[in-house]
Formats: sequence, C-alpha cells, structure tokens
Amino acid sequence: MNIPLLDLKRQYYGIQKEIMESVREVFESQSFILGKRGQDLEKKVADCCEVPWALGVASGTDALLISLRALGVGPGDAVLTTPFTFFATAGAIHNLGAIPIFLDIDPLTFNLCPERITEFLEGRSLAPGHAGQPASLLKSGRVRALLPVHLYGQMAAMGEILQIGERYGLKVLEDAAQSIGSSQTGGVGLLQSRPAGSLGDAGAISFFPSKNLGGAGDGGMIVTRREDLAESVRMLRVHGSRVKYIHDQVGWNSRLDEIQAAVLLVKLSHLPRWNQARRDNAALYLRLLEEWDLTEYCRPPAVASGNYHIYNQFVVRVRRRDELRQFLSDHGVGSDIYYPIPLHLQKCFSHLGYAAGDCPVSEEASREVLALPVFPELTPEEIRTVVGWIREFYQGQSG
Ligand SMILES: Cc1ncc(COP(=O)(O)O)c(C=O)c1O
Repeated sequence: MNIPLLDLKRQYYGIQKEIMESVREVFESQSFILGKRGQDLEKKVADCCEVPWALGVASGTDALLISLRALGVGPGDAVLTTPFTFFATAGAIHNLGAIPIFLDIDPLTFNLCPERITEFLEGRSLAPGHAGQPASLLKSGRVRALLPVHLYGQMAAMGEILQIGERYGLKVLEDAAQSIGSSQTGGVGLLQSRPAGSLGDAGAISFFPSKNLGGAGDGGMIVTRREDLAESVRMLRVHGSRVKYIHDQVGWNSRLDEIQAAVLLVKLSHLPRWNQARRDNAALYLRLLEEWDLTEYCRPPAVASGNYHIYNQFVVRVRRRDELRQFLSDHGVGSDIYYPIPLHLQKCFSHLGYAAGDCPVSEEASREVLALPVFPELTPEEIRTVVGWIREFYQGQSG
C-alpha cells in the first residue's frame, strides 16, 4: 500500500465541482485583483479568527514581513523568536534589516519557551550567541517584538507570551501559518477559548497548498484586532498607497488574487470538518502507538492543556530517525522532517554568532522529529498500516 505524506488529489476530487464553479465565476467577472471574492474571504477568515480585520497578501512569508513592518520593525531592531520553525519566520525579520534572536523551545510542546524569553530579557541567557546582547539591545530600545510560532497546529503559550510582551513593551506577532482553526484557553489570563492569530497585535496565516487551508498557489492573510494596523497593512500591500498614485510609504505589491480567494472560499467552508478529521487521525495514531507498546520509541510532542491542536502536521520524536524514515519509504509510506536544521545554525545566520549547543532542545528535536501522514482523507486502515511498519521496524513484528 502506497501512503503518501499528503495526497491533495483526494481532497480535490471531493470538492472539484465547487472549486471549478467558483473559479469559473472569477473568469466570468474578469476581476482578478482586490475584488469581491478577496473581500468575502477576508470577512470569513476574520470571523473564523474572531478578529475585526483580515487582509489578504501574496504569501504567509509576506504576511509576516508586512505585519512586522506595520508593527514598526525596521533596520537594527531585534525580534525574539524560535529557531525551530520554517525559515520564513526568521527570513522575514532579516529582510526588514532586523535581527532575529533565537531562543530555545519548550521540550514538551516544541513551541517558543516563555522562560527562555524572560531569561534573555533579564540578561540571564547563557547562549554565546546572546552574549552582551540583551542589555545593549534593551537599553537602545531595539528589542521590538516577540514572534512565537504555533508549530504543527498547536498554539504557543500565548498567555505567558502576552504578559511578557506587556511587561517589556514589546509587540507580539503570531506566526499562525500552520494553525488556522486552532485555539487555546486557560493560559495565564486567557479565560475564554481564543483562536490562533487573535491574541497578539497581529497573526500571519499561510495558504501554501500543503497547509490545512491551502490554495492553488501561494497566498497568505494578516489578521488583527487593531484598526491602525489593518490600515497600515492595507497600504503596505499596494506599494504604500492609500489613494491611487499617492505614496506615503514604500510598500510592496502583495495581494491575494481572486482565483486564490475563489478556491479558498470553497475550502474554508470545509475547514472545521477537515481539522476535526486531522484530530481524529492523530488520536488514532496515539491510541495505536500506546496499544502496540511503541511509545518508548515513538512519541509526539505534548499537547498543552487548553489547546485545540489541529495537526497541520502529525510529528513524532523517534529513535534512529533517518533509518526509520528510509524503512517507511521502502514500504511506500511518505514522511518528512520539520525541521532538520534549526535556524540559529543555518549558514545564512552565521554572522549572528550562534554555535551548536546554544539552543539544545531545538537541536535535539531536529535530530528526532518525523512527520507522518495525517491529512483528513487518510483512512484508519492506512494509519494502522503506518503504525504497523513502525512496529516492524522497532520490534520486528508486522501490524
Ligand atoms: C511556520 C511558518 N511560517 C511561515 C511560513 C511561510 O508561508 P508561505 O509559504 O505561505 O510563504 C510557513 C509555511 O510555509 C510556515 O510553516
């Protein structure tokens, strides 16, 4: 049995008619940029994220870049973030001339660890890459923002992160690229369940095709409770212009086009069901790993209490990861590694002075993580087969 990591065709064949009709209407209208469908989608995503404003942009990367810029991040500023994320999180910081400061993750959830942030801001961080930085950066007022990532579809510890932001006067941007539809309740000061993207100053969503809400190409959205920020983003995505041909700032050309919006409008209506299917698939993996005594070799990061995890990825930490991956591949099972090199050790950031050992939890995670198929259309039989091969690999017993 061939079981790919992600099979988008199964999703497509289930909604093909709706998608084609929606796209056909775009061609009938011949309106391709900043039209009615984009506005409808913005309204629906705003509702989904329980915020008043959502603005479409050309990608999740641009959603980060433009939000950071709208938050006032610029050359020489520092933004605190996790090294255990997709490259775009830090790339966006760097491309504004700002400095990403990498702080280690929580060993249980793999999300940015609030204690590491406090430690850094109090000048207690021991990582050589941080030597001398906090005091000078804080004194010059250069630490501007916190950028937690809701990794794999589980929100970072937002209650604590927001408190730190408030205490130190830092903006908070949520990288919600992997987590539309996830939510959190019960964190410090969080009494009600709140969706990803609704808690910080802004949230950045990605519609990259492989995401839980994926378009037919690149796309992204910025969600925010702040009207001033929404206004700023609205300008920045059209070259910094509010009135045609009048430019108060230099922005970008970054819009979500109408064809993407038409596809995403159809898909958004299915998202709650798909997210639930991902959760059901993850629950079955967990039950089988437990029942078949595999948790010693193969265990997922923890779900912190109060989190509605939507499993954009289902990731386990495993022993002999690369061998297992090859074994699964030999038996037709797709998998991937999110992420094999933590960002503080990427060559392009070597000028920042980090060394191996600076973010040990992220480094260990990079060696151990493996993402297994979890897409909504996956069948229970396929999940049993995947876990069966894992059992055969570790225990020499087939499923
Ligand atoms: C955590 C994270 N941040 C940012 C991005 C960038 O999104 P995009 O690929 O839409 O530019 C992605 C996805 O690719 C991501 O997973």
